Amino acid sequence: MPIQKPIKHYLQFSDLTLDEYEYVIERARIIKRKFKNYEIYHPMIDRTLVMVFDKNSTRTRLSFEAGMHQLGGAAIYLNTRDSQLGRGEPVEDAGQVMSRMCDIIMVRTFGQDIIERFAANSRVPVINGLTNEHHPCQVFADIFTYIEHRGSITGKTVAWVGDANNMLYSWLQAAEVFGFHVNVSTPHGYEMDMSLVSTDRFTLFANPADACEGAHLVNTDVWTSMGYEEENAARLKAFDGWIVDSAKMARAAPDALFMHCLPAHRGEEVSADVIDGPQSVVWDEAENRLHIQKALIEYLLLGRI
Ligand code: CP
Repeated sequence: MPIQKPIKHYLQFSDLTLDEYEYVIERARIIKRKFKNYEIYHPMIDRTLVMVFDKNSTRTRLSFEAGMHQLGGAAIYLNTRDSQLGRGEPVEDAGQVMSRMCDIIMVRTFGQDIIERFAANSRVPVINGLTNEHHPCQVFADIFTYIEHRGSITGKTVAWVGDANNMLYSWLQAAEVFGFHVNVSTPHGYEMDMSLVSTDRFTLFANPADACEGAHLVNTDVWTSMGYEEENAARLKAFDGWIVDSAKMARAAPDALFMHCLPAHRGEEVSADVIDGPQSVVWDEAENRLHIQKALIEYLLLGRI
């Protein structure tokens, strides 16, 4: 199959239109069904994905690596600790070199500017596997998960309870694309950077329980990066009261879902009875990273097939 030209990157949620999202979601459904039925589907034979990790990962690495393998291709893992990237090789040079040896690249790094400079020098599609500002693949999988469980997300209300981070900024971009509303409640000192927000489809709430009122989906994220707990004691204090617990879920719509992109600290950002309870879809959410990213890789490389 011919490779799609001109190349298309996926660096933030707003990089695809609603029409493209609807197409990729339909492909994800089909690809997921094939996977569940042990049906061989190898459109990526002889194609290579390179995954560049500047930060740790479980889900992102596994879903991209397993996904590319399941599509018949190969996936190569590079981290900045044992590649020349971590020793000062310019990101522009890395983009040039890697894109001459592979077909598609996923990058997890710190600043959005880094992945944009990388992509500007790449001859092949680049996918954002998380930056400080955006996590589009995760929100894409979350929306697919919502649709699987409840149908269209258009017109619904999503509650965001926690600090303003890459997940929230991607949810806000998704609200603009899919036409839903986000109730945002962030602790004092952890508010949104408005330079990263380009929608008015949100309402700010000082009280996190109020943000959950009538919400169709309640979302939170880890407060302190795994492994940095000791350094973040002050942060935990600021987040006191922001735990998503059964009292907050009781304020949401009766059929509300709970999502968390994981990893999670039970008893901090979410109580165990919520994350392990009947409204939680966190395992489907994690699994759907695989199916959505396979469909995304297919779309970025082959277009509409
Ligand atoms: N949700 C997420 O991106 O998980 P990892 O950090 O494990 O990739």
